Amino acid sequence: MFLPAEMDALVADGGGLAGLRAARVPVPRPGRGQVLVEMRAAPCNPADLLYLDGRYGITRPFPATPGFEGAGVVVASGGGLLARWLVGRRVACGGHGCTGTWATYCVADANQCIPLRSALSFDEGATALSNPMTALALVALMRGGGHRAYVQTAAAGQLGRMIRSVARRHGLAGIHVVRRAAQADSLRKLGARDVLVSADAGFSAQLAARCREKGASVALDAVAGAMTGQLAAALGPRGEVVVYGALSGDPCGGIDPMALCFGAKRVRGFELVGHLRTLGLLGKIRLGLAAQALVVSGEVATAVRARLALAEAPAALAEYEKSMSEGKVLLLPR
Ligand SMILES: NC(=O)c1ccc[n+]([C@@H]2O[C@H](COP(=O)([O-])OP(=O)(O)OC[C@H]3O[C@@H](n4cnc5c(N)ncnc54)[C@H](OP(=O)(O)O)[C@@H]3O)[C@@H](O)[C@H]2O)c1
Repeated sequence: MFLPAEMDALVADGGGLAGLRAARVPVPRPGRGQVLVEMRAAPCNPADLLYLDGRYGITRPFPATPGFEGAGVVVASGGGLLARWLVGRRVACGGHGCTGTWATYCVADANQCIPLRSALSFDEGATALSNPMTALALVALMRGGGHRAYVQTAAAGQLGRMIRSVARRHGLAGIHVVRRAAQADSLRKLGARDVLVSADAGFSAQLAARCREKGASVALDAVAGAMTGQLAAALGPRGEVVVYGALSGDPCGGIDPMALCFGAKRVRGFELVGHLRTLGLLGKIRLGLAAQALVVSGEVATAVRARLALAEAPAALAEYEKSMSEGKVLLLPR
Protein backbone atom coordinates (compact mmCIF):
# COMPACT_ATOMS: atom_id res chain seq x y z
CA MET A 1 0.00 0.00 0.00
CA PHE A 2 1.22 3.51 -0.81
CA LEU A 3 2.04 5.46 2.33
CA PRO A 4 2.70 9.19 2.29
CA ALA A 5 5.95 10.49 3.74
CA GLU A 6 4.20 13.01 6.00
CA MET A 7 0.98 13.21 7.98
CA ASP A 8 -1.05 15.57 10.17
CA ALA A 9 -0.47 15.17 13.89
CA LEU A 10 -0.65 17.02 17.16
CA VAL A 11 2.71 17.55 18.83
CA ALA A 12 3.22 18.27 22.54
CA ASP A 13 6.28 19.80 24.17
CA GLY A 14 5.60 19.00 27.85
CA GLY A 15 4.32 22.51 28.55
CA GLY A 16 0.68 21.49 28.99
CA LEU A 17 -2.12 22.39 26.60
CA ALA A 18 -0.35 25.65 25.76
CA GLY A 19 2.46 23.64 24.20
CA LEU A 20 0.17 21.52 22.00
CA ARG A 21 0.25 22.35 18.26
CA ALA A 22 -0.85 20.86 14.95
CA ALA A 23 2.06 19.93 12.67
CA ARG A 24 3.17 17.93 9.64
CA VAL A 25 5.43 15.08 10.80
CA PRO A 26 6.91 11.96 9.17
CA VAL A 27 4.65 8.90 9.00
CA PRO A 28 6.11 6.40 11.51
CA ARG A 29 7.15 2.99 10.16
CA PRO A 30 6.23 -0.19 12.03
CA GLY A 31 8.97 -2.54 13.21
CA ARG A 32 8.62 -6.29 13.65
CA GLY A 33 5.60 -7.16 15.80
CA GLN A 34 4.09 -3.72 15.13
CA VAL A 35 1.39 -2.37 12.84
CA LEU A 36 0.61 0.97 11.25
CA VAL A 37 -2.95 2.07 12.03
CA GLU A 38 -4.76 4.72 10.03
CA MET A 39 -6.52 6.50 12.89
CA ARG A 40 -10.23 7.30 12.63
CA ALA A 41 -10.99 8.47 16.19
CA ALA A 42 -9.04 9.06 19.38
CA PRO A 43 -10.23 10.46 22.72
CA CYS A 44 -8.60 12.85 25.16
CA ASN A 45 -8.47 11.27 28.61
CA PRO A 46 -7.23 12.59 31.97
CA ALA A 47 -4.05 10.56 31.38
CA ASP A 48 -3.40 12.64 28.26
CA LEU A 49 -3.68 15.87 30.25
CA LEU A 50 -1.14 14.50 32.74
CA TYR A 51 1.09 13.52 29.84
CA LEU A 52 0.85 16.98 28.27
CA ASP A 53 2.02 18.43 31.59
CA GLY A 54 4.92 15.95 31.74
CA ARG A 55 3.39 14.34 34.84
CA TYR A 56 2.23 10.95 33.51
CA GLY A 57 4.03 7.86 34.78
CA ILE A 58 5.49 6.75 31.44
CA THR A 59 8.29 7.83 29.12
CA ARG A 60 7.43 9.20 25.67
CA PRO A 61 10.05 11.93 25.35
CA PHE A 62 8.93 15.37 24.12
CA PRO A 63 8.35 16.65 21.50
CA ALA A 64 5.91 13.82 20.82
CA THR A 65 2.43 13.04 19.58
CA PRO A 66 0.06 12.41 22.50
CA GLY A 67 -2.78 9.89 22.65
CA PHE A 68 -2.79 6.46 24.25
CA GLU A 69 -5.94 5.00 22.73
CA GLY A 70 -8.08 5.18 19.63
CA ALA A 71 -9.53 3.20 16.76
CA GLY A 72 -8.67 2.81 13.10
CA VAL A 73 -7.75 0.42 10.31
CA VAL A 74 -4.47 -1.49 10.19
CA VAL A 75 -2.85 -0.53 6.87
CA ALA A 76 0.64 -2.05 7.18
CA SER A 77 2.58 -4.58 9.23
CA GLY A 78 6.23 -4.57 10.22
CA GLY A 79 6.26 -8.38 10.19
CA GLY A 80 5.33 -11.16 12.58
CA LEU A 81 2.32 -13.48 12.58
CA LEU A 82 -0.08 -11.35 14.63
CA ALA A 83 0.89 -8.09 12.92
CA ARG A 84 0.34 -9.61 9.46
CA TRP A 85 -3.00 -11.10 10.53
CA LEU A 86 -4.19 -7.65 11.64
CA VAL A 87 -3.66 -5.95 8.25
CA GLY A 88 -6.98 -4.71 6.87
CA ARG A 89 -8.78 -5.10 10.22
CA ARG A 90 -10.58 -2.41 12.20
CA VAL A 91 -8.92 -2.25 15.61
CA ALA A 92 -8.92 -0.47 18.92
CA CYS A 93 -5.28 0.34 19.53
CA GLY A 94 -2.85 2.36 21.58
CA GLY A 95 -0.80 1.51 24.64
CA HIS A 96 2.05 3.33 26.29
CA GLY A 97 4.52 2.25 23.58
CA CYS A 98 2.53 3.52 20.57
CA THR A 99 3.68 6.58 18.62
CA GLY A 100 0.60 8.58 19.63
CA THR A 101 -3.01 8.23 18.49
CA TRP A 102 -3.58 11.97 17.92
CA ALA A 103 -2.32 11.68 14.35
CA THR A 104 -3.40 10.39 10.95
CA TYR A 105 -1.26 7.28 11.46
CA CYS A 106 -0.02 5.55 14.60
CA VAL A 107 2.41 2.68 15.06
CA ALA A 108 1.27 0.31 17.80
CA ASP A 109 2.46 -3.06 19.03
CA ALA A 110 0.31 -5.74 17.41
CA ASN A 111 -0.39 -7.20 20.84
CA GLN A 112 -1.82 -3.84 21.94
CA CYS A 113 -4.45 -3.97 19.15
CA ILE A 114 -7.80 -5.63 19.60
CA PRO A 115 -10.00 -6.27 16.53
CA LEU A 116 -13.20 -4.23 16.75
CA ARG A 117 -16.52 -6.00 16.70
CA SER A 118 -18.55 -5.05 13.61
CA ALA A 119 -21.31 -3.65 15.84
CA LEU A 120 -18.96 -0.92 17.07
CA SER A 121 -18.31 2.27 15.13
CA PHE A 122 -14.84 3.81 15.15
CA ASP A 123 -16.15 6.47 17.55
CA GLU A 124 -17.35 3.81 19.99
CA GLY A 125 -14.25 1.66 19.44
CA ALA A 126 -11.96 4.57 20.31
CA THR A 127 -13.18 4.45 23.92
CA ALA A 128 -14.22 0.80 24.08
CA LEU A 129 -11.12 -0.53 25.76
CA SER A 130 -9.31 1.48 28.42
CA ASN A 131 -12.22 2.62 30.60
CA PRO A 132 -14.46 -0.46 30.18
CA MET A 133 -11.48 -2.78 30.82
CA THR A 134 -10.53 -0.75 33.89
CA ALA A 135 -14.11 -0.92 35.18
CA LEU A 136 -14.15 -4.69 34.74
CA ALA A 137 -10.73 -5.09 36.33
CA LEU A 138 -11.54 -2.89 39.34
CA VAL A 139 -14.83 -4.69 39.97
CA ALA A 140 -13.03 -8.05 39.69
CA LEU A 141 -10.46 -6.76 42.18
CA MET A 142 -13.23 -5.80 44.63
CA ARG A 143 -15.01 -9.13 44.23
CA GLY A 144 -11.73 -11.03 44.57
CA GLY A 145 -11.10 -9.17 47.83
CA GLY A 146 -14.46 -10.26 49.20
CA HIS A 147 -15.80 -6.69 49.33
CA ARG A 148 -19.56 -6.15 49.34
CA ALA A 149 -19.75 -2.36 49.33
CA TYR A 150 -17.41 0.33 48.04
CA VAL A 151 -16.83 4.05 47.77
CA GLN A 152 -15.78 5.65 44.51
CA THR A 153 -14.54 9.16 43.74
CA ALA A 154 -14.94 11.00 40.38
CA ALA A 155 -18.19 9.04 40.18
CA ALA A 156 -19.74 11.27 37.49
CA GLY A 157 -16.88 10.75 35.03
CA GLN A 158 -17.17 8.22 32.23
CA LEU A 159 -15.20 5.56 34.10
CA GLY A 160 -16.98 6.26 37.38
CA ARG A 161 -20.34 5.61 35.70
CA MET A 162 -19.02 2.40 34.14
CA ILE A 163 -17.73 1.13 37.49
CA ARG A 164 -21.16 1.76 39.00
CA SER A 165 -22.91 -0.19 36.21
CA VAL A 166 -20.61 -3.20 36.38
CA ALA A 167 -20.50 -3.25 40.19
CA ARG A 168 -24.31 -3.11 40.41
CA ARG A 169 -24.61 -6.16 38.16
CA HIS A 170 -22.44 -8.04 40.66
CA GLY A 171 -24.47 -6.89 43.66
CA LEU A 172 -21.86 -4.49 45.05
CA ALA A 173 -23.36 -1.47 46.81
CA GLY A 174 -21.75 1.87 46.02
CA ILE A 175 -21.24 5.24 47.68
CA HIS A 176 -20.57 7.71 44.88
CA VAL A 177 -18.50 10.81 45.55
CA VAL A 178 -18.61 13.76 43.14
CA ARG A 179 -17.26 17.28 43.43
CA ARG A 180 -20.28 19.37 42.34
CA ALA A 181 -23.96 19.27 43.29
CA ALA A 182 -25.03 19.19 39.61
CA GLN A 183 -23.08 15.95 39.17
CA ALA A 184 -24.90 14.43 42.15
CA ASP A 185 -28.24 15.28 40.52
CA SER A 186 -27.23 13.68 37.22
CA LEU A 187 -26.16 10.48 38.98
CA ARG A 188 -29.37 10.36 41.04
CA LYS A 189 -31.36 10.65 37.80
CA LEU A 190 -29.52 7.52 36.62
CA GLY A 191 -30.68 5.71 39.75
CA ALA A 192 -27.68 6.14 42.08
CA ARG A 193 -28.93 6.34 45.66
CA ASP A 194 -25.89 7.10 47.76
CA VAL A 195 -24.24 10.19 46.29
CA LEU A 196 -22.07 12.57 48.32
CA VAL A 197 -20.64 15.92 47.24
CA SER A 198 -17.07 16.37 48.44
CA ALA A 199 -17.44 20.17 48.54
CA ASP A 200 -20.30 19.99 51.10
CA ALA A 201 -19.66 20.98 54.72
CA GLY A 202 -19.39 17.87 56.87
CA PHE A 203 -18.42 15.65 53.93
CA SER A 204 -15.85 13.59 55.87
CA ALA A 205 -18.32 12.81 58.65
CA GLN A 206 -21.09 11.94 56.16
CA LEU A 207 -18.70 9.68 54.27
CA ALA A 208 -17.64 7.82 57.41
CA ALA A 209 -21.27 7.39 58.46
CA ARG A 210 -22.33 6.05 55.05
CA CYS A 211 -19.35 3.66 55.00
CA ARG A 212 -20.34 2.30 58.42
CA GLU A 213 -24.01 1.89 57.44
CA LYS A 214 -23.19 0.15 54.15
CA GLY A 215 -20.19 -1.81 55.41
CA ALA A 216 -17.98 -0.31 52.70
CA SER A 217 -14.53 -1.87 52.95
CA VAL A 218 -12.85 -0.61 49.77
CA ALA A 219 -12.50 2.78 48.08
CA LEU A 220 -11.65 3.36 44.41
CA ASP A 221 -9.92 6.73 44.27
CA ALA A 222 -9.22 8.64 41.05
CA VAL A 223 -8.76 12.00 42.80
CA ALA A 224 -5.84 11.43 45.25
CA GLY A 225 -4.53 14.41 47.26
CA ALA A 226 -6.37 14.92 50.55
CA MET A 227 -9.22 12.72 49.31
CA THR A 228 -7.11 9.58 49.77
CA GLY A 229 -6.70 10.36 53.47
CA GLN A 230 -10.43 11.09 53.85
CA LEU A 231 -11.27 7.75 52.27
CA ALA A 232 -8.76 5.84 54.41
CA ALA A 233 -10.23 7.46 57.52
CA ALA A 234 -13.83 6.69 56.49
CA LEU A 235 -13.30 2.97 55.88
CA GLY A 236 -13.42 0.59 58.80
CA PRO A 237 -10.56 -1.67 59.98
CA ARG A 238 -8.84 -3.59 57.16
CA GLY A 239 -10.27 -1.10 54.66
CA GLU A 240 -8.40 -0.73 51.39
CA VAL A 241 -8.01 2.40 49.24
CA VAL A 242 -7.15 1.67 45.60
CA VAL A 243 -5.68 4.79 43.94
CA TYR A 244 -6.07 4.64 40.16
CA GLY A 245 -5.96 8.31 39.16
CA ALA A 246 -4.48 11.68 40.09
CA LEU A 247 -7.21 14.16 39.15
CA SER A 248 -6.41 16.55 42.02
CA GLY A 249 -2.83 16.81 40.77
CA ASP A 250 -1.64 16.42 44.37
CA PRO A 251 0.24 13.65 46.16
CA CYS A 252 -1.94 11.34 48.27
CA GLY A 253 -2.12 13.01 51.67
CA GLY A 254 -3.66 13.20 55.10
CA ILE A 255 -3.35 9.49 55.74
CA ASP A 256 -3.29 8.79 59.47
CA PRO A 257 -0.39 6.34 59.99
CA MET A 258 -1.93 5.03 63.23
CA ALA A 259 -5.11 4.12 61.34
CA LEU A 260 -2.97 2.18 58.88
CA CYS A 261 -1.08 0.42 61.70
CA PHE A 262 -3.84 -0.30 64.19
CA GLY A 263 -6.68 -0.59 61.67
CA ALA A 264 -4.57 -2.74 59.32
CA LYS A 265 -5.73 -0.48 56.48
CA ARG A 266 -4.02 -0.39 53.12
CA VAL A 267 -3.45 2.10 50.30
CA ARG A 268 -2.42 0.62 46.98
CA GLY A 269 -2.22 1.61 43.32
CA PHE A 270 -3.82 0.22 40.19
CA GLU A 271 -2.88 0.84 36.56
CA LEU A 272 -4.49 -1.03 33.67
CA VAL A 273 -1.44 -1.71 31.49
CA GLY A 274 0.51 -3.16 34.41
CA HIS A 275 -2.55 -5.19 35.36
CA LEU A 276 -2.89 -6.53 31.78
CA ARG A 277 0.72 -7.77 31.92
CA THR A 278 -0.28 -10.03 34.81
CA LEU A 279 -3.10 -11.53 32.70
CA GLY A 280 -1.01 -12.66 29.71
CA LEU A 281 -2.09 -12.36 26.05
CA LEU A 282 -5.16 -14.61 26.34
CA GLY A 283 -6.39 -12.96 29.52
CA LYS A 284 -5.91 -9.58 27.91
CA ILE A 285 -7.87 -10.58 24.81
CA ARG A 286 -10.63 -12.01 27.01
CA LEU A 287 -10.86 -8.77 28.99
CA GLY A 288 -10.82 -6.73 25.76
CA LEU A 289 -13.68 -8.78 24.32
CA ALA A 290 -15.64 -8.51 27.56
CA ALA A 291 -15.13 -4.73 27.48
CA GLN A 292 -16.43 -4.51 23.92
CA ALA A 293 -19.40 -6.70 24.86
CA LEU A 294 -20.27 -4.21 27.61
CA VAL A 295 -20.32 -1.39 25.06
CA VAL A 296 -22.26 -3.39 22.44
CA SER A 297 -24.89 -4.38 25.01
CA GLY A 298 -25.27 -0.75 26.08
CA GLU A 299 -24.40 -1.60 29.70
CA VAL A 300 -21.71 1.07 29.52
CA ALA A 301 -21.40 4.04 27.18
CA THR A 302 -19.06 6.97 26.79
CA ALA A 303 -20.58 10.42 26.47
CA VAL A 304 -18.92 12.46 23.73
CA ARG A 305 -19.21 16.26 23.86
CA ALA A 306 -17.44 17.04 20.57
CA ARG A 307 -15.98 15.36 17.49
CA LEU A 308 -13.23 17.53 16.09
CA ALA A 309 -10.40 17.75 13.61
CA LEU A 310 -6.87 17.62 15.06
CA ALA A 311 -6.28 21.34 14.57
CA GLU A 312 -9.33 22.19 16.69
CA ALA A 313 -8.08 20.18 19.65
CA PRO A 314 -6.15 22.69 21.78
CA ALA A 315 -9.13 25.01 22.39
CA ALA A 316 -11.59 22.12 22.88
CA LEU A 317 -9.33 20.34 25.35
CA ALA A 318 -9.10 23.48 27.46
CA GLU A 319 -12.92 23.36 27.75
CA TYR A 320 -12.83 19.63 28.56
CA GLU A 321 -10.35 20.27 31.37
CA LYS A 322 -12.80 22.69 33.04
CA SER A 323 -15.83 20.34 33.18
CA MET A 324 -14.87 16.80 32.36
CA SER A 325 -18.17 15.11 33.25
CA GLU A 326 -19.80 16.59 30.14
CA GLY A 327 -18.06 13.97 28.02
CA LYS A 328 -14.98 13.22 26.00
CA VAL A 329 -13.55 15.16 23.10
CA LEU A 330 -13.02 12.77 20.19
CA LEU A 331 -10.33 13.70 17.69
CA LEU A 332 -11.01 12.61 14.12
CA PRO A 333 -7.69 12.69 12.26
CA ARG A 334 -9.24 12.24 8.79
N1 LIG B 1 -5.29 3.49 36.46
C1 LIG B 1 -5.80 3.19 35.27
O1 LIG B 1 -5.42 2.20 34.65
C2 LIG B 1 -6.84 4.08 34.68
C3 LIG B 1 -7.49 3.73 33.50
C4 LIG B 1 -8.49 4.60 32.99
C5 LIG B 1 -8.78 5.78 33.66
N2 LIG B 1 -8.08 6.08 34.80
C6 LIG B 1 -8.37 7.30 35.57
O2 LIG B 1 -9.73 7.34 35.87
C7 LIG B 1 -10.09 8.68 36.14
C8 LIG B 1 -11.41 8.99 35.44
O3 LIG B 1 -11.24 8.89 34.03
P1 LIG B 1 -12.46 9.22 33.07
O4 LIG B 1 -12.11 8.76 31.70
O5 LIG B 1 -13.72 8.78 33.71
O6 LIG B 1 -12.43 10.81 33.07
P2 LIG B 1 -13.57 11.84 32.68
O7 LIG B 1 -14.69 11.16 31.98
O8 LIG B 1 -12.90 12.97 32.00
O9 LIG B 1 -14.14 12.31 34.09
C9 LIG B 1 -13.32 12.88 35.06
C10 LIG B 1 -14.20 13.12 36.28
O10 LIG B 1 -13.39 13.54 37.36
C11 LIG B 1 -13.89 14.75 37.89
N3 LIG B 1 -12.76 15.53 38.38
C12 LIG B 1 -11.80 16.16 37.66
N4 LIG B 1 -10.92 16.75 38.47
C13 LIG B 1 -11.32 16.49 39.72
C14 LIG B 1 -10.84 16.86 41.01
N5 LIG B 1 -9.73 17.59 41.15
N6 LIG B 1 -11.51 16.43 42.10
C15 LIG B 1 -12.62 15.68 41.97
N7 LIG B 1 -13.15 15.30 40.79
C16 LIG B 1 -12.50 15.72 39.68
C17 LIG B 1 -14.60 15.43 36.73
O11 LIG B 1 -15.55 16.34 37.21
P3 LIG B 1 -15.83 17.77 36.52
O12 LIG B 1 -16.97 17.55 35.56
O13 LIG B 1 -16.22 18.62 37.67
O14 LIG B 1 -14.58 18.21 35.82
C18 LIG B 1 -15.23 14.22 36.06
O15 LIG B 1 -16.42 13.84 36.72
C19 LIG B 1 -8.91 9.53 35.68
O16 LIG B 1 -8.14 9.88 36.80
C20 LIG B 1 -8.12 8.59 34.81
O17 LIG B 1 -6.74 8.92 34.75
C21 LIG B 1 -7.14 5.27 35.31
